[in-house]
Amino acid sequence: MKTYRIAPSILSADFARLGEEVRDVIAAGADFIHFDVMDNHYVPNLTIGPLVAEAIKPHCKRADGTPVTLDVHLMVEPVDALAALFAKAGADIITFHPEASRHVDRTLQLIRDAGCKAGLVFNPASSLEVLDYELDKIDMVLIMSVNPGFGGQSFIDGALDKTRRVRAKLDAYKARTGRDVLLEIDGGIKPDNIAAAAAAGADTFVAGSAIFGKPDYKAVIDAMRANLAAA
Ligand code: DX5
Ligand code: ZN
Repeated sequence: MKTYRIAPSILSADFARLGEEVRDVIAAGADFIHFDVMDNHYVPNLTIGPLVAEAIKPHCKRADGTPVTLDVHLMVEPVDALAALFAKAGADIITFHPEASRHVDRTLQLIRDAGCKAGLVFNPASSLEVLDYELDKIDMVLIMSVNPGFGGQSFIDGALDKTRRVRAKLDAYKARTGRDVLLEIDGGIKPDNIAAAAAAGADTFVAGSAIFGKPDYKAVIDAMRANLAAA
């Protein structure tokens, strides 16, 4: 049985009650907290920074005290200075878009040197070629199934084929090295398409509006898990 992780994006949470929203979605079964950082430069929107990450970090734990991964998705350009600040603020995983960094290899190394897991994010039109060179420094690949910048957009079907291609690369890499790399998908994920994303090879699923847009977070996460189990 595969391990699947649900990563609610707090982009669609009520920012006036963010700590409570984080606790509620963890109680509802979240595995990761997905934290979307937008800078009005790399993407046409502006969200939250390291101070907010630091403020929610103490809430990123289960009732029994076990930590819940804080998964920081940087949609910013340049990357390095902010990545360092997020590492300090308590990020566990930091992902960034390769086109937003002048020196992708250096940025991956900087994130790892700061004690975090590192990952690359691929937009719908971005080439995967960098993976041929950087897998040793990558702990997560994130496939965008929308164009980055906003929650609540529709799933782009082409992301499934891209996910399959990344899955093949990661399986070959695992056979060669024994090392697991997470494969996350982000944008327009809902209970009714999560199984297709899993069949394409994703193991970690970001969902913002699908979860925070409904009154009962647990019902949505349970429906996602049921559809994953049936797939
Ligand atoms: C988009 C963000 C996503 C977004 C997902 O730029 O990276 O994480 O919040 O939101 P939904 O699930 O509503 O598409
Ligand atoms: Zn995201």
